[in-house]
Amino acid sequence: MKKREFRSILITGGAGFIGSHLVRHMVQKYSQSKIINLDKLTYAGNLENLRDVEGKDNYIFERVCITDEKEVERVFQQHDPDLVIHLAAESHVDRSIVSPLEFVHTNTVGTANLLNQAKRHWQESDFAGKLFYQVSTDEVYGSLGPSGFFTEETRYDPRSPYSASKAGADHLVRAYFHTFHMPVVISNCSNNYGPFQFPEKLIPLIINNIRNQNELPVYGDGSNVRDWLHVTDHVKAIDLAAHMGIPGETYNVGGNNEYKNLTIVHTLCDLIDAKVGNAPGTSRSLIKFVKDRLGHDHRYAIDSTKITQGLGWSPAIKLKEGLSLTINWYFENSTWLENVTSGAYKDYYNKMYRTVEN
Ligand code: NAD
Ligand code: TYD
Repeated sequence: MKKREFRSILITGGAGFIGSHLVRHMVQKYSQSKIINLDKLTYAGNLENLRDVEGKDNYIFERVCITDEKEVERVFQQHDPDLVIHLAAESHVDRSIVSPLEFVHTNTVGTANLLNQAKRHWQESDFAGKLFYQVSTDEVYGSLGPSGFFTEETRYDPRSPYSASKAGADHLVRAYFHTFHMPVVISNCSNNYGPFQFPEKLIPLIINNIRNQNELPVYGDGSNVRDWLHVTDHVKAIDLAAHMGIPGETYNVGGNNEYKNLTIVHTLCDLIDAKVGNAPGTSRSLIKFVKDRLGHDHRYAIDSTKITQGLGWSPAIKLKEGLSLTINWYFENSTWLENVTSGAYKDYYNKMYRTVEN
């Protein structure tokens, strides 16, 4: 298939963890295209993630909520995107257990609003040259036993409010493809890790707690299994599937790095002990087994054959190498981590975007 070209690319959730890596990649690689980052800047949105992109000629930031009909319509009219890559979401399972409605509102209703505005804006041209790209998760497929993998044909069986709200969004994306013939591509990815991840997720939380000599909370007995993918490998998969993927198709994206949570925590402890010169076992003594997450999915594992064989994607970064790189990044960027944990990162937006009005 011929590589599609886009002149105006709207990325939602671009100030978050994966979104900021994607924005940086797209701004650098597609310097002739306009890259618009639409983000509400919730607690998870941090413009400090994009300091090096700020000021580039082809980068525009719009502080907008994806559920706001008028504002999203304005952004479509003003920037006329031909590709939307949709990442904006509430993304943490534990928070979805506490506030399910917030997840439905942002993830499901917000996606419906974006789809609707895209349809209104694109239907006059009969969707020629347009694409709506939905960034989804493997969690929509449910939970696996000790064997087997999720394929693109696996039936959706979401089990947390987070995964249910993402599944609802994915169904709407497919509905717009079938009902209105809007070109869409969906990718379902496994657990990402790497720089700029908010330290509420397992890997950055453990690194941060080891740095601060705090307890390392392991849910249940630590036997739950996740498949881990370095964020830069995910970004390359999104870029490829957006430019080469077949409209209407789904691509599973995984790292072939299946590990028990306890193994991940042990590996992080041992890598950090070696890095800082601690006696072996020092950081492992911080591990604390805590009450299990409600409805905790046991195992996720992805079969990525379709994107590997169909589009030529494969992950480049092995887990141990990726974990070392990630540990180094968090140790070298302690100010970022401290700003995030203290809340000081919120001032960055005010400094960058509010000084003139104030
Ligand atoms: P994140 O929580 O780090 O970032 C989410 C971003 O969305 C933030 O910048 C936040 O400000 C923004 N946002 C939230 N609500 C918004 C709203 N109403 N309007 C506009 N912006 C809003 O999330 P992430 O880990 O980078 O995940 C990004 C996407 O990738 C999500 O859709 C998630 O479901 C999906 N995904 C994540 C993973 C993972 O391991 N992190 C794996 C597979 C898929
Ligand atoms: P998380 O990073 O929240 O991602 P997800 O729930 O989307 O997979 O959690 C990864 C795994 O680590 C998951 O099985 C829950 C577990 N976990 C802990 O054991 N302790 C923690 O403090 C956290 C945040 C997660």
